[in-house]
Amino acid sequence: MKRDITSQAFKKQIITYPQNCDRMTEPPDTERYREWNAADSLLPLADGELQLWRFQLTDDAFFPGCANYLIPEERSRAERRRASRPREEFAVGRACLRILLGNALRMPPLDIVLKESPFGKPSVVNSAEHISFNVSHSKGTILIGLSRQETVGVDVEHIDAGIDILEIAQSAFTAKELERLKALSSLDERRRAFYRCWTQKEAITKADGRGLSLPLSSFEVPAAPAWHTPVLIYDPTGTEKHYFLSDIDPGDAAIGAVATDSPNCRILQLNFPLSRLSSHLVKQGD
Ligand SMILES: CC(C)(COP(=O)(O)OP(=O)(O)OC[C@H]1O[C@@H](n2cnc3c(N)ncnc32)[C@H](O)[C@@H]1OP(=O)(O)O)[C@@H](O)C(=O)NCCC(=O)NCCS
Repeated sequence: MKRDITSQAFKKQIITYPQNCDRMTEPPDTERYREWNAADSLLPLADGELQLWRFQLTDDAFFPGCANYLIPEERSRAERRRASRPREEFAVGRACLRILLGNALRMPPLDIVLKESPFGKPSVVNSAEHISFNVSHSKGTILIGLSRQETVGVDVEHIDAGIDILEIAQSAFTAKELERLKALSSLDERRRAFYRCWTQKEAITKADGRGLSLPLSSFEVPAAPAWHTPVLIYDPTGTEKHYFLSDIDPGDAAIGAVATDSPNCRILQLNFPLSRLSSHLVKQGD
């Protein structure tokens, strides 16, 4: 059951938000693991918290004013995408990102300057306050992770029944991960396990910032339900780096994972229907 955290009581008591809100600190075998909190307003970003926002693009839920939250270079980038779904995912995802960053940093969304690393990972370069974020989108589901301290990597993938999972796993997974996959007899189970392992790996590469330039077979993930589960990788100088993985259930035949460099940040999953986001912004006169 979803819990509405936008009640008047909540709005009045923003200071006591950590006690009021349903943060997920339990392992994933509880129902709360799957729970998305319904939000219809933007929330403050508390220290030690990882906010994971989900936006879903469907035919009847779009974000008509999203171009108003993009800088000209981002509008052209969106227009260069020929297929409508990737174009909308980028435009809406980037607009939502700017709105969330603007809210957390108390800056107008369009004033935020984003710069990409040589591997393409964007970060904010004109704020005195530190903020980490990461975006992922797949077939209309957009996930945005935000944190003040932790490095964040997120990944969401929709299950595609048409791909040869064993062929991909042979080149991208470690021998142990591959064995675990092959041991599953049900095709359905195997496909889900493949996507779990893939999203766990991609979330790590995105937290690290090297993306797929970090070979997926160079490190091992749990490839099983994960909740703040440690993963070890090496940076290019051979130094150990520790990340912590948690699974996400994005719903709608999709699988997801989030990686951070902190073992105990509180993960808060927030669902913001795009139609409500637009009307919330209009009400604010933003
Ligand atoms: C990052 C990467 C793993 C994303 O894969 P994907 O499944 O296609 O896409 P996702 O939807 O999960 O993520 C896309 C988002 O990741 C972010 N991103 C891009 N590069 C990233 C990186 N190196 N690390 C973390 N995040 C990155 C961007 O915000 C992007 O969102 P955008 O569309 O708003 O720009 C993949 O594109 C990659 O490996 N890129 C690195 C390429 C590289 O090494 N380039 C070097 C110069 S050629």
